[in-house]
Amino acid sequence: MKYFLDSAKLDEIKYAYENYGIDGVTTNPKHIKLSGKPFMTCVKEIAQWLKDAGLEGKDFPVSFEINPHLDKADDIVAAAKEVASYSPNYCIKIPCCKEGLIAARRLEKEGVRTNVTLVFSPSQAIPAAKLGAKFVSPFVGWKENSGDSSAYLKEIAKIYKNYGYKTEIIAAAVRNGRQISELAEAGIDIVTCGLAVYEASFEHPFTTHGLGIFREAWDSTATE
Ligand code: E4P
Repeated sequence: MKYFLDSAKLDEIKYAYENYGIDGVTTNPKHIKLSGKPFMTCVKEIAQWLKDAGLEGKDFPVSFEINPHLDKADDIVAAAKEVASYSPNYCIKIPCCKEGLIAARRLEKEGVRTNVTLVFSPSQAIPAAKLGAKFVSPFVGWKENSGDSSAYLKEIAKIYKNYGYKTEIIAAAVRNGRQISELAEAGIDIVTCGLAVYEASFEHPFTTHGLGIFREAWDSTATE
């Protein structure tokens, strides 16, 4: 299973790549806002970092979401091409709606990789795969927070397997380690989380408790 970092903060991206070996990055307009930088500054700075880190052209995808106000396929395609021109690693997040799917189909035909996002049902994930999107992003946290189940990701995985679809599933808006392990068990290709979610998932209260016990024993025992 691949771990993508859900962040547009360059310092966080560098830290997570260097220390945890994350496999890619996803961003959305909320992350750009949190970075405190203009959208195009993020696009340019991350492209430069990919070059400097020797990741340009390698298997380290970075997803950017373009202006979400665009609602005509022509406009979505034009904006997506502009952002994608900054790095071969860039995938463009396209909302799963009629005009978005039309735009994504055209972009994939023209060699711009897409990530069909804001997916909340298997019937949205099927057209994303049929048009050849690189990624599809069904959301876990938003579904569960609404009291609904995120079991639809397993259904998407089964459907993709049934038909041999190549689109990779990114479980988006993942909030905790339990969700990560359930998604891994279901064979989901990729999870994307914030740094704090990953770091919390590396810990367990028994590990902390056990370390306390072992430290106490260590301190009361001679080492020589
Ligand atoms: C993923 O591609 C999405 O950007 C992300 O997971 C959305 O979730 P959020 O609510 O954590 O920002």
